[in-house]
Amino acid sequence: MSGKLPLIVLGLGNVGQALLRQIIETRRRIADRTSLYLAPIALATTSGLLYDADGLPEETLRTALEMVGRGGKLGDMIGVRSPGDLPATLRPDAIVVDLTASPLTVPFLHAAMERGCGIVLANKIPLAAPWAEARPFYEYPRLRYEVTVGAGLPVIAALRYLLDTGDEITHIEGCMSGTLNYLCAELERGAPYSTAVAQARALGYTEPNPRDDLSGKDVARKALILARTAGWPLEESDLCIEPLYPASLADVPVDEFMAALPALDAEYRARVRKAEAEGQVLRYMARVGPQGGTVGLAAVPKESPLGALHGPANHISLYTARYQFLPLTISGPGAGPEVTAAGVLGDIVELGRLAGTR
Ligand SMILES: NC(=O)c1ccc[n+]([C@@H]2O[C@H](COP(=O)([O-])OP(=O)(O)OC[C@H]3O[C@@H](n4cnc5c(N)ncnc54)[C@H](OP(=O)(O)O)[C@@H]3O)[C@@H](O)[C@H]2O)c1
Repeated sequence: MSGKLPLIVLGLGNVGQALLRQIIETRRRIADRTSLYLAPIALATTSGLLYDADGLPEETLRTALEMVGRGGKLGDMIGVRSPGDLPATLRPDAIVVDLTASPLTVPFLHAAMERGCGIVLANKIPLAAPWAEARPFYEYPRLRYEVTVGAGLPVIAALRYLLDTGDEITHIEGCMSGTLNYLCAELERGAPYSTAVAQARALGYTEPNPRDDLSGKDVARKALILARTAGWPLEESDLCIEPLYPASLADVPVDEFMAALPALDAEYRARVRKAEAEGQVLRYMARVGPQGGTVGLAAVPKESPLGALHGPANHISLYTARYQFLPLTISGPGAGPEVTAAGVLGDIVELGRLAGTR
């Protein structure tokens, strides 16, 4: 006999759609294994809210998927409500799943904590906010956020296991951006910096405004999340972040930004050649310890695991009192809607099981 696990899902983008598909396809198998039957009761985007306290019918879930899959809005569906009705959907047995990249969900997440709901975040923003604002999320026992670093890779789970067994984390380092790994691999192949950025943009590897990736902010958010999980309440100002463009290009329109990039080609070519001459390659890395960290380009041996990284792969090393010289490393695809949605499912099932043992 399976108990229904009510889910309130915010965001139906790449990850939200993959999650919904996986729920429809796998929930019977998951129920057989865990006795938890995943029942989305609410689906919300900025345009609308679908809600049924008993669980949205599968047909409605499929129609919603079809609608957003072909570029439509949830708000155009029949029977849709205003996103403003969302607070009324909260109930203590529900799990709120934030698959947005928005700071606007924060008040709802606070309301969910007050009602005692479970919370699963793919959204890094609440966790990377200034510590005073982020702290309640880290301290709330029924909150999981595995996919915020390394997508489906069990990076946060490994950190929790180390901490739960009394180990002490000394520092963490790695490559956590598939987009910037791609860029580094292209530079290594001899592509000019401006061409490599334009190509990554054309292939959809970067955000439409490539500065969202090149600023290093997304990697810095991941580094902060790792640091805070390790027990170091760092602020963004404790990280030295190297953007891959000068400050003078920070605020110009995107077209102007792209047109200015060839002026940077010589500088990056020189950096790549210098590393090459020493048997090294450049990688965009994050390194954090208890006092702070760095996020930026670093030269690593060509023959090392980081030197061999290409494409969307991530590689994260955890150095601890027990894993002192040879770190515990986690490596594999660090992006992609399917593996990310699977990581979200893993968090949901874990919280559902916890609730069952309360
Ligand atoms: N894609 C990956 O491989 C990956 C990997 C790891 C983590 N993540 C994280 O997962 C999250 C989702 O990524 P994605 O690629 O699916 O993003 P996306 O395609 O841009 O989708 C974002 C979704 O969030 C909705 N949304 C935005 N603000 C909202 C609000 N205030 N309330 C309710 N819904 C809201 C959007 O709805 P509208 O259409 O109405 O704006 C859209 O449906 C991000 O935080 C991302 O960093 C992604």
